[in-house]
Amino acid sequence: MENKIPLSKEQSLSIAALSMEQSIELYVQGMRVMILRLSNGLHAYENLCPHRAKPLSEASHLTFDESGTLIECEHHGAQFLPESGLCITGPCQGQSLTKLSIHHDGSRYILLLSIGTGS
Ligand code: FES
Repeated sequence: MENKIPLSKEQSLSIAALSMEQSIELYVQGMRVMILRLSNGLHAYENLCPHRAKPLSEASHLTFDESGTLIECEHHGAQFLPESGLCITGPCQGQSLTKLSIHHDGSRYILLLSIGTGS
């Protein structure tokens, strides 16, 4: 089951203004959500590292590794694939960020949250 959450006009404008490989943190129903724009579209993740359940970043954007290709947790250096959220190196290798679905309905962005699945 999914919960459709329409984002505010301001949040939608902030997402629309993202340049390639830029990210922004939004607060959605008490959840910290990172929205990232890549060449294949927008990706949304809960801003919560699977290692210690801490935010990946305390800044308002995601941090990348030195190569600029992997999302990096600022606490213990876990690195994640930006397209899938899979941790490929670090203390939570093999685990994934919680990926959320996002789409545009013609007037604003909608975030889809899974309910009761634990993901
Ligand atoms: S909390 Fe993210 S790597 Fe430890």
